[in-house]
Amino acid sequence: MAYSRELHEKAEAEIKRRKLNAENEAEQRKKELTEKYPDFQLIDNALSNTGIEIISLLAGCKNDVGIEELKKKNTELKNERANLLKALGFPEDYLDIKYTCKKCNDMGYIEDYDEERKVSYGSKYCECYLDALKRYAANELTRSTPLELSYFEDFSLDFYPKALIDGESPYNEMASVFNSCKKYAENFDMDSTSLYFYGRTGLGKTHLSLAIANEAIKKGYNVIYGSVINFLNKMEKEKFGRAESAVDTEELLIDADLLILDDLGAEFSTAYTVSALYNVINSRVARGVPTIISSNLSLEELKSRYPESIASRIIGTFATVKFIGKDIRQLMNEQ
Ligand SMILES: Nc1ncnc2c1ncn2[C@@H]1O[C@H](COP(=O)(O)OP(=O)(O)O)[C@@H](O)[C@H]1O
Ligand SMILES: [Mg+2]
Ligand SMILES: [Zn+2]
Repeated sequence: MAYSRELHEKAEAEIKRRKLNAENEAEQRKKELTEKYPDFQLIDNALSNTGIEIISLLAGCKNDVGIEELKKKNTELKNERANLLKALGFPEDYLDIKYTCKKCNDMGYIEDYDEERKVSYGSKYCECYLDALKRYAANELTRSTPLELSYFEDFSLDFYPKALIDGESPYNEMASVFNSCKKYAENFDMDSTSLYFYGRTGLGKTHLSLAIANEAIKKGYNVIYGSVINFLNKMEKEKFGRAESAVDTEELLIDADLLILDDLGAEFSTAYTVSALYNVINSRVARGVPTIISSNLSLEELKSRYPESIASRIIGTFATVKFIGKDIRQLMNEQ
């Protein structure tokens, strides 16, 4: 999969920022500590001296002191520093640089070493770098959706009639939908179940799915949301278009921690859209990762609109959530 240079630059900048932050924070901790306890400075100076001596000995520049002796001294100094930290109530690694990624120390790349063959192929991107790259690509994909307008706090139950309609009180039903969505968002993790929101237009399906997205993003999950129509258009262009595209939308949709597919059923159905949808939904179900789909299609309509493979995947593995009431956009306009 090819990413644009712009995305690579963003990812590089991000990893560099992490590295600098980690180093600055360690430097700051050291500074504060040595100001309070000058003994640390002495130990530190001695440590760097033995370090330099060991290096020059190894380089063959000097051999008046035995290397074993120096190494012993070095270890002793390190222990002394660790003990001093402990005595003062700090963790032993308090002065170490705490890199975000322990694999590459925030370099963004690691040695490409083949354990089996015992050969090195130079260097390769570290996972942390590829994650950052994916995150930026995902951002690009979702930028057009007005996420900032959809929070749980802005969701009001006052729009749903209390009186019974077809034997159900929209207010009561939607109060329970709202509470389960809130709980779902609070407890969200990679084991969360997938959800199928369905009901007529203007009942808050998109609003609540984006409210969940906001919470998941706050928790640090990689969330992708957007309309099915939009995603299908992009994937189709990438697949059949002439230009070499910068992202692989299908792969991003499959890889996201949480994917929100808005308005399933609004797209114009072709053999391509059906197979692309099947591939995305099925791959995510196979990975066991959560997806939220919203749609105007009831479960019956879902079955008649899509092949059994898609409909039964959704009905069989998603928790279905029914939205009822009166079109809220219309109610808002009347007010
Ligand atoms: N319970 C609610 N409280 C406040 N605003 C709502 C509520 N439900 C929907 N809205 C707003 O009404 C509009 C339509 O809702 P939306 O979530 O897009 O409906 P749907 O996706 O079910 O068609 C949006 O602007 C949304 O923010
Ligand atoms: Mg909607
Ligand atoms: Zn890394």
